[in-house]
Amino acid sequence: MTHERVLLVEDDEDMRASLRQVLEDAGHKVLEAAGASDAEPLLLTEVIDLVITDLRMPNGGGEDVLKHVKAITPGTPVLVVTAYPSVESAIESFRGGVADYLLKPFSGPQLLEAVGRALAARRAGDRAALLRHLGARAPDMPHMIGASRSFAAMLATLRRFAPLEGAVLIHGETGSGKELVARTIHALSRRATGQFVVVNCAAIPENLIESELFGHEKGAFTGAIAATQGLFEAANGGSLFLDEVAELSPAAQAKLLRCLEERAVRRVGALRPRPADVRIIAASHKDLGVLAQEDKFREDLLYRLAVLEVRVPPLRERPEDVATLAVHFLDRLRAETNREIVGFDEDAIAKLAHHSWPGNVRELQNVVQKAFANAAPPLIGGLDITFRSAGGAAANRGELTSALDTFESTHVTDVLKLHGGNITHTAKELGIHRTTLQRLIKRLGIAESDAP
Ligand SMILES: Nc1ncnc2c1ncn2[C@@H]1O[C@H](COP(=O)(O)OP(=O)(O)OP(=O)(O)O)[C@@H](O)[C@H]1O
Ligand SMILES: [Mg+2]
Repeated sequence: MTHERVLLVEDDEDMRASLRQVLEDAGHKVLEAAGASDAEPLLLTEVIDLVITDLRMPNGGGEDVLKHVKAITPGTPVLVVTAYPSVESAIESFRGGVADYLLKPFSGPQLLEAVGRALAARRAGDRAALLRHLGARAPDMPHMIGASRSFAAMLATLRRFAPLEGAVLIHGETGSGKELVARTIHALSRRATGQFVVVNCAAIPENLIESELFGHEKGAFTGAIAATQGLFEAANGGSLFLDEVAELSPAAQAKLLRCLEERAVRRVGALRPRPADVRIIAASHKDLGVLAQEDKFREDLLYRLAVLEVRVPPLRERPEDVATLAVHFLDRLRAETNREIVGFDEDAIAKLAHHSWPGNVRELQNVVQKAFANAAPPLIGGLDITFRSAGGAAANRGELTSALDTFESTHVTDVLKLHGGNITHTAKELGIHRTTLQRLIKRLGIAESDAP
């Protein structure tokens, strides 16, 4: 069993209990809310794969539930259950935002069948549905683009961590969005009105790091002509972002540790420490646990930094987000310039979908920028999409391609099944041409029985 997480929104307690039983017996994890207003906080902070909602509830009805889902986690499908025969017209007003609906009374198997269908579409990363909700962004995180399950799960984690005071360690590959995550945590915290100060630990020379971080008193060393505050003090009342924290020298690590233990900063040359009220957010693309084992990073410092941990998933783990992000970057470029490039053609989309993205979101942003500059209106074509050859990543390429093929093959097979093997409908849902789909089926060796 997959233990997918279902949010059940229903005001009638007996009804809720019996639906819960059916879902749990089928292996789903169930969260409950009595109306839209109870559902909202759960949508913000929990990973939810499917929402089942009643239509009419005193505490915020189904339409409000749908509104919250679209705003907070637009990739999550919604299944509406209702006792009202006028359901068809009510559903009409939802304008296609609903995955399915069930008319009460219904049987357990009927419920599970509808749930299974909606979850399969979600697993398949129903790209058409994600693209439909492109405009939707969580109002509290307007800069965060992506609706894949792993990305939505990370956003829920950020909402839980942000209001806490503990230090956060962000792991993630280059270009995956670590700094954006750090800024988001700050923006959602009680410190949002304070400063967000960035320290690039890799860029500060060893002999300057102490005075950069902690400041110095007048005359502390040759050239210290005036007392100067460090970045810690500048971040007082706010957050200090220690980027590339793995690059700190052992001496700098020791000083940072002392500062975190004392919750105070000692300017170079100062007799007494000054209290510092700073939340530390650190990031690294290296695995600090491994570095600690190899004695290259202090374990005691690691414990201090990693009170809360966030992993930013690399783009190749959430291929559903590629098209969403590409369209987002394109829209932004179009708004900044007056070039009327309005979208990507089928070849371009296919090329983006097949790339392994070693440089993650930043690489995607660059690729779209280059393509935007080179393309002839109105569309970006396949030839406009070019990738920098990833020399270092070449060794992994075979492995990556096969991982992507596996993903793609599962995805295509799922969607084909959903449409009973119908090539035309499947191609339409995938947003690709029939012939492209047929080529894919051949290349990925999907069984003919799945694709009559
Ligand atoms: N989910 C996202 N939605 C929109 N933009 C994003 C997203 N993730 C990353 N970006 C953008 O991609 C670029 C790279 O992100 P960022 O600088 O946060 O990555 P990073 O992990 O800190 O990279 P590095 O390891 O190279 O320092 C930035 O311009 C950022 O705004
Ligand atoms: Mg960065």
